[in-house]
Amino acid sequence: MSEKLIEMVDNAGVVRLTINRPKALNALNSAVLTELEALLTELEKRSDLRALLITGAGEKSFVAGADITEMRTKTPEEARAFASQALRTIKRLETLPVPVVALVNGFCLGGGCELALACDWAVASDNAIFGQPEVLLGVIPGFGGTQRLPRRVGPAMALDLVTTGRKIDAQEALRIGLVNRVMPQAELEAYAEELTKQLAGNGPLAVRSAKQAVHDGMDQDLDSALALETSLFALGFAGSEQKEGMSAFVEKRKPNF
Ligand code: CAA
Repeated sequence: MSEKLIEMVDNAGVVRLTINRPKALNALNSAVLTELEALLTELEKRSDLRALLITGAGEKSFVAGADITEMRTKTPEEARAFASQALRTIKRLETLPVPVVALVNGFCLGGGCELALACDWAVASDNAIFGQPEVLLGVIPGFGGTQRLPRRVGPAMALDLVTTGRKIDAQEALRIGLVNRVMPQAELEAYAEELTKQLAGNGPLAVRSAKQAVHDGMDQDLDSALALETSLFALGFAGSEQKEGMSAFVEKRKPNF
């Protein structure tokens, strides 16, 4: 049997996916994308899923981009199919109805940065390096970078990064809002574990609605987005979570979602 390119560990609905191609710095090839999409398709069906953490094997790299060796000989049609596969897979990660955390060690370049951009959270070690170096290879980002990066860091900084291809360190990534937290590599694992536990303990419907409101709202005009928020806010009062959350506050105890 062929070796798995993505390892999955499931701890009571808190799932960790590790892209496991350390010899190629976890670069995304078609086989990795196919495996990732299949796993996400299964995870989408799970009602007990509470949080997802995605990372790359080893301490040198999260994901160093799309696989250049595989892309090198592609025709335009093949390149389109490859990008479409990646976009579809990354979209599934983005729309998973639970918080998704990218744990970033080392290189987070090109398609790796685009993968992290689709996550709700990005926590990075202080050795992390980010960038969209595609122009240095004679192409542009093809896994969503020209669209998600400006939405995350603003158009000026996105244009800076995608037109120069320059790499930035973790502190700069934090300053421009590309990542949420940076910490020493030795502390990153424990922090990410605590974070996913905390996210998993919040009301699943509320977390799902919050995520939907932010993501879907970003693509709408303000009035439509506010109407979406009102609908999701009101929907929250139809279920048991709101009752438990507010009762727990009044009764001065921790909620049990
Ligand atoms: N694709 C395929 N293989 C890759 C890779 C990638 N994106 N990145 C690294 N590797 C491979 C290297 O070829 C090398 O393999 P061999 O040992 O077989 O030669 C191995 O990983 C280790 O890499 P290096 O020896 O280069 O390690 P380094 O520490 O000297 O450099 C690095 C690290 C700066 C990340 C360098 O590997 C690098 O520049 N990688 C490419 C980064 C890049 O350009 N990413 C964007 C890809 S294009 C993209 O992602 C398009 C898109 O939007 C869809």
